[in-house]
Amino acid sequence: MSETIDLLNNRVSIRKFKSDPVPEDLVDQVLRAAFRAPTSSNIQSYSVVMVQDPDTREKLATLTGNQRHVVEAPVFVAFCADLTRIEHVMAQRGHTIVDNNMEIGLVSSIDASLVGMSAYLAAESVGLKGVMIGAVRNDAAATARILGLPSQVYCVFGMCLGWPDEAPPQKPRMDYSSMVHYERYGALRDNRDMAQTVNDYDAALANHYGGAGKTTTPDSWSHDMDKKFDPQLRDNLRQELKTQGFDFR
Ligand SMILES: Cc1cc2nc3c(=O)[nH]c(=O)nc-3n(C[C@H](O)[C@H](O)[C@H](O)COP(=O)(O)O)c2cc1C
Repeated sequence: MSETIDLLNNRVSIRKFKSDPVPEDLVDQVLRAAFRAPTSSNIQSYSVVMVQDPDTREKLATLTGNQRHVVEAPVFVAFCADLTRIEHVMAQRGHTIVDNNMEIGLVSSIDASLVGMSAYLAAESVGLKGVMIGAVRNDAAATARILGLPSQVYCVFGMCLGWPDEAPPQKPRMDYSSMVHYERYGALRDNRDMAQTVNDYDAALANHYGGAGKTTTPDSWSHDMDKKFDPQLRDNLRQELKTQGFDFR
């Protein structure tokens, strides 16, 4: 239908890369294009940190649960929510955003995410592939220290990019028609109940993991989600982000 739609329809996360370097000007072009992403009220509240130093990569990998692709990917980019420029212009005018942070915290996180996804897509369009790394929020304060992020900046996620050295099968997605509501939530094109949709997806994902030689359970997705969110995931995050100047309250 279109190159972009084909690209998205065929997309998978890639965690193994050839050692071939990625030219710096290609990365620049990818990021310049990504920075054209829409940005709430034109605030452009994001920055990226390019990380090449092997020691820094090792520190980040440790923090992300020893994800080796964080060290081995030719390119690692940290996508950050960055309020420093807003703070700067407001301070010049005798104002501050410190007491107004829930909305601005969300907006800057959304901004950084839109730029991140745009970069991912731009990278794919030139044959680069990769994976986003949310595990930098396992310890957002440590990530901030490692990357030298000042107050009012936090790393929303990292991204490994490079020339792919694997072609894993696509992970199935939940049934499309169970996620598209018409006019009001609950009005679906195909009114199957949620339990059935989830059961079907559990079976499809178990089949996918089984085919890839990975251990799973018959209730694959349900089991993983339950395990991921109980006990609560990243319980310290609110405090870590508050220390970093993002008070999500
Ligand atoms: C914000 C975000 C953070 C992610 N963090 C990680 C991560 O830390 N490590 C990893 O291996 N994959 C990570 N992923 C990739 C997801 O696990 C992956 O997108 C999902 O399992 C679906 O697989 P697919 O991308 O191959 O379709 C992340 C994805 C997103 C969007």
